[in-house]
Amino acid sequence: MDIRDEILRLKKERRAVILAHNYQLPEVQDIADFHGDSLGLSIEASKTNAEVIVFCGVYFMAETAKILSPPKTVLIPDRHAGCPMADMITLEDLRKLKLKHPKAKVLCYVNSSAEIKAESDVCCTSANSISVARGAFGEKEEVIFIPDQYLARYTASQLRRPFIYWPGYCPTHVKMLPEHFRKEKEKHPDAEILVHPECTPEVIAVADKVFSTSGMCRYVRESSCKEFIIGTEIGMIYRLKKDNPDKEFYHPTPLGICPNMKRITLEKVRWSLTHRQEEVYVPPETITRARTALEKMIAYK
Ligand code: 13P
Ligand code: SF4
Repeated sequence: MDIRDEILRLKKERRAVILAHNYQLPEVQDIADFHGDSLGLSIEASKTNAEVIVFCGVYFMAETAKILSPPKTVLIPDRHAGCPMADMITLEDLRKLKLKHPKAKVLCYVNSSAEIKAESDVCCTSANSISVARGAFGEKEEVIFIPDQYLARYTASQLRRPFIYWPGYCPTHVKMLPEHFRKEKEKHPDAEILVHPECTPEVIAVADKVFSTSGMCRYVRESSCKEFIIGTEIGMIYRLKKDNPDKEFYHPTPLGICPNMKRITLEKVRWSLTHRQEEVYVPPETITRARTALEKMIAYK
């Protein structure tokens, strides 16, 4: 039997749903019931009727699904698919930072561990960081934005309000440099440059637009422009081309690949469904606290 058919059979048997992030390998995106960005997948996880969620993405995303749907079994096909940015801040780091700024509230990018979310006031994704920061805090309130310094700076620049930053970053997005985009633009002068807010301010300065991955999908679909240079993880090119076969997409550099996202393969999805492994576990008290911060995030679509 073809591996895809086997996955579909197992999925039915287990009453499972497969969620896949936009950076997943093409064949994994194709087998998924839902694909999308961190916010979209969190919403999907919170409302699914399936008994089992197979999360094709990185660990913090599967953990988020578990926090939002505690009675469900959440499986990740490779538990070593981590996000280095999420590992850049520890609970001890955050507690020290809070002691230094005792009046500050904590805004936590969803690319973080469950225990960090539990210690935060509200979460956000790159799709809603601006509306969360605008809506969840008073104008004069001090806000600590963790762990991505670049998403924090971009959000601050849009709102013209300062944040206390944590120096985390995405190792994949920081490898994309302004010169990569300039070279690509020379080859495709009519192309618009779209970049993710995890990119550095120098890259954002050469971009036409800044979007989360779902924001890119929406913008490209509605735009009359036919060519785009895409400043985010390379998996987005497959997603965009599949949804917009009449448009052209260029990626600035092969360095823009997230090896963690690529750890999930069809073989591992089959293994995961067969053996109900690896099950994501989050302690109940962490779930309760982290969920409050995540539910506030979901309210800001
Ligand atoms: P999105 O929420 O835009 O999909 O991004 C998630 C991510 O990990 C970006 O590197
Ligand atoms: Fe984490 Fe960057 Fe990979 Fe996104 S692309 S999962 S932020 S390492």
